[in-house]
Amino acid sequence: MSIAEAEQYEGREITIRGWVSKIQTFPKHMFMEIRDGPGDHNKIQVVSKIVPVIIEQYVEITGQVAKLPPGKSSYQTVEIQLKTFTVLGESNSDFTMRVPVGAGPDIKLEERHLHLRSREFSLITVLRSMFLTTLRNVFQSSQSTEIIPPCFVGNQCEGGADLFSVKYPPTHGVEYMDAYLTQSSQFYLEMAVPAVGDCHCIYPSFRAERSHTRRHLTEFLHAECEWKDVLVFETHLEKLRWLVTSILTDFLQTAEIPLKQLGVYDHVVSLTQMEIVIMTHAEAIRECRTRGIYKCTETKTHFDPRDDIPEMQERALIDQIGKIVLLTKFPAEFKSFYMARDPEDTSLSLGCDVEVPGVGEVIGSGVRVFDETELRQRLEESGLKEEEYREYIDLRKYGNARTSGMGLGVDRFLTWVLGKESIRDIVTFPRYPGRLTP
Ligand code: 4AD
Repeated sequence: MSIAEAEQYEGREITIRGWVSKIQTFPKHMFMEIRDGPGDHNKIQVVSKIVPVIIEQYVEITGQVAKLPPGKSSYQTVEIQLKTFTVLGESNSDFTMRVPVGAGPDIKLEERHLHLRSREFSLITVLRSMFLTTLRNVFQSSQSTEIIPPCFVGNQCEGGADLFSVKYPPTHGVEYMDAYLTQSSQFYLEMAVPAVGDCHCIYPSFRAERSHTRRHLTEFLHAECEWKDVLVFETHLEKLRWLVTSILTDFLQTAEIPLKQLGVYDHVVSLTQMEIVIMTHAEAIRECRTRGIYKCTETKTHFDPRDDIPEMQERALIDQIGKIVLLTKFPAEFKSFYMARDPEDTSLSLGCDVEVPGVGEVIGSGVRVFDETELRQRLEESGLKEEEYREYIDLRKYGNARTSGMGLGVDRFLTWVLGKESIRDIVTFPRYPGRLTP
């Protein structure tokens, strides 16, 4: 039976199995805390005479379930009074030295396989799993179909700078083919739309990032979707607004207990109440000027209207604004070839990044180029080979449904939702430059 069910067995004898997560020894008796899952409801106090026990042993305990003595509190209203105790999996007494309470970020990464067991990290792991349930709930509530895209791809989606090249076996001969790990599954979702309508995927993306920042990974979980019938940009923005609001609201319900156990429930409530505003790139540049956010702080140089705003300044701006910002209409040269242009000013692209305080960009999105000739022209301008985008061009030939779509960085979004400092604080086994284990 599981520890969470123990309260139902008050006055009876039960057998549980779990890991020893805490030991308190007194002259004649001891308390052990046994856990068999991530939450506080998966822990129980066991009271016993002195027995030889070590932290992180996997044990089988048989004993009487009894109400806690008056005035005492623990994870449950009951405790187990030990009868028999068997060690099923040995441990080593150096465990608490390897991951001491209050260990710094380096130890938590170096010993991730052990740190995972801490109360905080196991709650984060469970919340990450629940967040996937939330994403699926939200997509399915809009009749979207989940697609499983490939990992190995033959063309680039988000520029060549951070492509992971891999050797890929050919049909004949010995020469390896050029292949990449996917940067985004967008093209595959676009290909699926004529078959299934709106669709989505939750799948890893890979970027050979050189930057060691607190929001970049080389492998990240990417929740992407593609929506049909987006005839005007406002429809796309409405869909994004709906998506962000629905995710936060659903997560609050789905994950109420672990969010409370982690002490971040009220924080998530405050995010559901956060205002969502739309701001064009040109307006963002003006905001930087009025708020004293400079292109170069040393020389106090202001941004020009067509400058890209680097990550650091963009984050400073969003932190000052303190709202969820849908940042739109970027100069087209900053954005990928597939992004549609603004009919009112074709030098601007109909893209939208969702920016949040504390983390910055959590969603990249946009309306797709509809016209075949325009798409060919954009490929050429970007120095890309048409033959590598044969299927993508075909979509403009056979019943294009004017789509837009988005990619939500699950790890970044969750870093924001859980109020954490770094993406490495929430990813179970983070991958960033230089790190392959654990
Ligand atoms: O803005 P990006 O590059 O957009 C795309 O990939 C589109 N093709 C998505 C689409 O329209 N289907 O990436 C989307 C999001 C970013 O906003 C960010 O949250 C996350 O993916 N992301 C990363 N997260 C962690 N580490 C990295 N290196 C990331 N790069 C992007």
